[in-house]
Formats: sequence, C-alpha cells, structure tokens
Amino acid sequence: MKTRAQSTSSTAGIPPHGEVPRHVAIIMDGNGRWAKQRHLPRFAGHKRGVEAMHAIVKSCAEHGVGFLTLFAFSSENWRRPPDEVALLMQLFIGALEGEVQKLHRNGIRLKVIGERKRFEPKIQALIAEGELLTAGNRGLTLTIAANYGGRWDILQALNRMAKEGALTDLDEIRESDLAPYLSMSAAPEPDLFIRTGGERRVSNFLLWQLAYTELHFTDALWPDFDAAALEAAFVSYRARERRFGRTSEQLEEAKRGAAGRTPLRAASDA
Ligand code: IPE
Ligand code: IPE
Ligand code: MG
Repeated sequence: MKTRAQSTSSTAGIPPHGEVPRHVAIIMDGNGRWAKQRHLPRFAGHKRGVEAMHAIVKSCAEHGVGFLTLFAFSSENWRRPPDEVALLMQLFIGALEGEVQKLHRNGIRLKVIGERKRFEPKIQALIAEGELLTAGNRGLTLTIAANYGGRWDILQALNRMAKEGALTDLDEIRESDLAPYLSMSAAPEPDLFIRTGGERRVSNFLLWQLAYTELHFTDALWPDFDAAALEAAFVSYRARERRFGRTSEQLEEAKRGAAGRTPLRAASDA
C-alpha cells in the first residue's frame, strides 16, 4: 500500500518552511571514537549513544519539531565485526523494551524505517508493538532508521510499484508516482540534517529526501551531542537562506510582497 505524501516536494514546489525545522534528520556518529578516547570498549560508546538520544528527543519535542529521524544502523553496518553487531542488536532490544512506554506517555509516535526481515523475530515483534502502541499519538514523530539505506529505499519503492502493477500504465515515472512509496512518504522532507562525529558525508542516509535539506556537520561525538549543541544547529539553520533554486532578489521581493499585498505562494515554483 502506498501512503500519500504529506507535503510539498522541494523539487516540484517550494515547501513551507519557518524558524523551527519541521523535520530534523540526524546521523548519530562518533560512538566508537568517544569510547576510544576514554580507553573503553566501543560498546561503552554505543551505550552512551543511546542515552544521548533521550535529551535530543526531549529537546526536539520542546522546540515543536514535528519529525525527528535518527540513523541508528545502516545497511552497511552489518559489515562490522559480528560481536559489535550483536551488541548493537542487544542495545536495540533494550531500547525498544525500555523506552517505548516512556515515548507513549509523552505522546510521541514511534516509527522504524529500513528492511526489517534481516532482524531477528524478537526485534521485528518489538518494532511492530511499539509502532502500534504509539500510532495514535499526535506529538513528535520519532523515526528510527535501522538496517536502512537510501538506495535500498528507492529500490524497495520501485519494487513495490512493480509488484502492485503501478508501473504498467505509466508512460514515464514521475516524482509524484514514486514519492508515495518511499519510507518517509508521510513526513515532510528534512529541513535540517545533522551529522555528528566530524565526517562530511551522507553515508547512504535519506538520499532522495535530502535534495534541498540544510546540512550541518559538527565535530562533536554523538555521546557528547546535547541540547545546547542542538540549539547551535538550530541557530545555524535559522541563518541560512533557503532559495530552492531561486535568487536572493526574488526572495527579497517575495518578503516585501508578503509585508504588503502579494503573499508568497508556498507551493508555487512558477
Ligand atoms: C555510530 O557510531 C553508531 C553506529 C554506526 C551504529 P560509530 O560506531 O560509527 O562511531 P565511530 O564513527 O566509529 O566513532
Ligand atoms: C553512519 O555511520 C551510520 C549510522 C550512524 C548509523 P557510519 O560510521 O557507519 O558511517 P561511515 O562508515 O563512517 O560512512
Ligand atoms: Mg562511524
């Protein structure tokens, strides 16, 4: 089943955007180096990494962010040593068992994106339970990307379209045909992308959805990334001029128009 895209595509139109990002997407990187700096096993860094998530979820909810998407485990992270992968799976189970009730009490809706069938049945069941329990919540939508890859996402969308016969009566595939089949179809595209840990790369995260997202890279290692660091990312975001292909002069004119008679039409790319 496809779900309807919730808001304007950044390439088909101009999404509404304001002072607070509606959708923040984070690559939580640097757990291993955080542990190494302290002569601790990598596992200790991952444990602290889970703790760091709490403050960021709370802070995003307080700021009125609608969607927070966290990259927890990539399609390529299976390439890590088996004992590290096993520990990460244990942490995932622990987090699902320990946190879902808390999220629910706080009105947060949990979603998990990524290919689930590679996870053990217990994890798949916990994900399904957590999503079901929190499905009706109207607060922040927290999406955990687990066994997720941007290329996988585009391919699973095309494969589902093919299976449903949605491709057969199309002369050509348009953006609006594909978008509803992507994992994040129910969310607006991210306004702000944050990567901690110093690397300046996207590492196969939301490839399609990051088309016009503002990128923020910080050297802070994920276990050290706190509410103040998030606030600094928001300050940086607010200082950006989001042009979506237009010129600064057009934006100035639209602003003057908004102050006077001609409002900027949110979804116009004319
Ligand atoms: C991110 O931290 C967590 C996962 C990818 C699961 P890393 O484990 O990649 O930490 P570094 O990059 O080695 O420091
Ligand atoms: C990206 O971090 C994935 C997650 C944070 C889950 P990695 O540490 O796996 O990325 P690379 O390998 O440095 O690009
Ligand atoms: Mg890393």
